[in-house]
Amino acid sequence: MTMKIAFIGFGGVGQALAELLHTRRQHLLETYGLDTQVVAVSDVMKGAVYHPEGLDIPTLLREVRENGSVTEYPDHTGLIKGWDSIQTIEQSNADMIVEVTFTDVETGQPAIDHCKCAFTNKKSVVTTNKGPVALAYRELAQLAEENQVYWGFEGTVMSGTPALRMPLASLAGNEITEIRGILNGTTNYMLTEMEKGSAYQDALEKAQSLGYAEADPTSDVEGYDVRYKTAILANYVMGYPLASRDIPCKGISGLTQDDIKEAKASNKRWKLLARVKKEGDQVTASVQPELIDQDDSLAGITGPTNAIVYDCDMAGEIMLTGAGAGLIETGYSLLIDIIDFHRTKTPIVAHEEDA
Ligand code: HSE
Repeated sequence: MTMKIAFIGFGGVGQALAELLHTRRQHLLETYGLDTQVVAVSDVMKGAVYHPEGLDIPTLLREVRENGSVTEYPDHTGLIKGWDSIQTIEQSNADMIVEVTFTDVETGQPAIDHCKCAFTNKKSVVTTNKGPVALAYRELAQLAEENQVYWGFEGTVMSGTPALRMPLASLAGNEITEIRGILNGTTNYMLTEMEKGSAYQDALEKAQSLGYAEADPTSDVEGYDVRYKTAILANYVMGYPLASRDIPCKGISGLTQDDIKEAKASNKRWKLLARVKKEGDQVTASVQPELIDQDDSLAGITGPTNAIVYDCDMAGEIMLTGAGAGLIETGYSLLIDIIDFHRTKTPIVAHEEDA
């Protein structure tokens, strides 16, 4: 059965996913039996368009890239324009809502309301917005379960690097006693640049010009971005209801060139580390710059790259490293969830020749 998809928000990440769905259409169909159709786009800045029998992705992308809006999408019978996000979720025939709005991470809105509206209307959601997961995981997970719909958010931590799915799926059966990670590309890039001699402000400006930093980089440099990701790891991977605001958090803004030099002289490195630790039935977490030995597995992670280490009771220390941001990588993270959603509805059968 065709999966009908509505995009709530259609910025760079949403467009990247739309392009992947279009360019990989044949591969998705042949490999996973996944047939998708984009039926709606609703974006507060770029307008809204809906057709129950599907929209043409190249036309949508051309409109948004050339005109900054989908409002000039060619009219034809059955096409509806101008629906807001809630109308689109409630009234479209989409069964999958791709929630990629510009959401305020401190309140989680409007993404939280979009998720609630979708779940109560029996629609599944995939999102890259951290706010809903970091601030309202329990409530939303319960609502999704009650309504028997899917909620995917792989891209909220390390974008398309599967930091959430890997521990739960591939490392299943282990007890994970500690998670440590470098979960923010901007600050890791800045620390690397500072080691090469850049001043703090120059390193920040370089990170901004390369597009790693948020529009307001306070969330990066003060550690808030990592704190949200840490809350997601505690809630989802460790299964512990830790509130983001209860995680002690310190960023890198207090680190000077002298601190970096001193660390280097003693064969150490400063890294902004997230930690989630399980002791008995308690889970604690922290976000702070830590001085680590050069031979620590995380010390070699430089530039904007992210990495995460899971301490497993059977598999030992498992490290996963890769991109933590980027339009294609984050668009791809949504595709991981969409394929997973499709698989949960479609039993995996052995290829005939294997049977
Ligand atoms: N500004 C973030 C970073 C983007 O630098 O990692 C991904 O959350």
